[in-house]
Amino acid sequence: MEKKIISKAIFPVAGLGTRFLPATKAMPKELLPVIDKPLIQYAAEEAINAGIDTLIFVTGKNKRAIEDHFDANHELEQALISAGKIKQAEMIKNILPEGIDCVFVRQPEQLGLGHAILCAEKIIGDEPFAVLLADDFLTSGGEQTVSKLIKSFEESQKIKLSVMEVNGPEISEYGVVSFDKNGNVAGLVEKPSFRDAPSRLASIGRYILTPNIFESIKNVESGFNREIQLADAINLLAVKGLVEAVYFEGKRFDCGSVKGFVEAIKFMSK
Ligand code: G1P
Repeated sequence: MEKKIISKAIFPVAGLGTRFLPATKAMPKELLPVIDKPLIQYAAEEAINAGIDTLIFVTGKNKRAIEDHFDANHELEQALISAGKIKQAEMIKNILPEGIDCVFVRQPEQLGLGHAILCAEKIIGDEPFAVLLADDFLTSGGEQTVSKLIKSFEESQKIKLSVMEVNGPEISEYGVVSFDKNGNVAGLVEKPSFRDAPSRLASIGRYILTPNIFESIKNVESGFNREIQLADAINLLAVKGLVEAVYFEGKRFDCGSVKGFVEAIKFMSK
């Protein structure tokens, strides 16, 4: 089979999920279900639908349940079959389609999104790849976001940021895109104040990155809490004209917040 240009995706899942305590004391926030499916599974399915066959989870403490979720569970399967629950047995058996590999790499310290991505450098190698933040729960009537980003990447081979318009003070919760006078992406300002936001276009949790991002991440100085921001690394490539923005079409719910999570459940139960 022809090798896909983009076959790997990183899922940074080491975050603590403090906004959902006590629910996330022992359980990873990425396993919070929207109705009956965990957030991380929605994101994994979006990547797989886009042709990705290697899912790389950058995990941390208390995240073992994510490994278990994507692993086989023969005991449960057998128990379901014995109970005549064939449909449910099939569902957990096929949690991932055949031919999909999962790789788990540990982020030993919480040092930001840039650092999380750097933890997967050896597994990615010299290829472009996708990044999905499972907290960002996306629904789109048509083509899903990662597929769309990959198509766009195939045309220009540049880093792709998925962006949406955010009006009002909430803009300061995002990485915000700045543009040069020709309308090209000039950079990304991580969580600016409302007043200082360079535009209304917020970057959301889907990216296509090129392998030169690893060098950029290594060249970024850590900031608050020793964190290394992905936005800073993207900026080093944006000044060279290597970054483009793609409009997100659909509905996005910030499932990293209780409000967004409740809205996602409401939307999905309609
Ligand atoms: C991350 C990124 C930010 C982006 C956001 C989208 O922030 O750092 O640039 O706009 O995801 O959800 P976080 O929400 O993890 O603080």
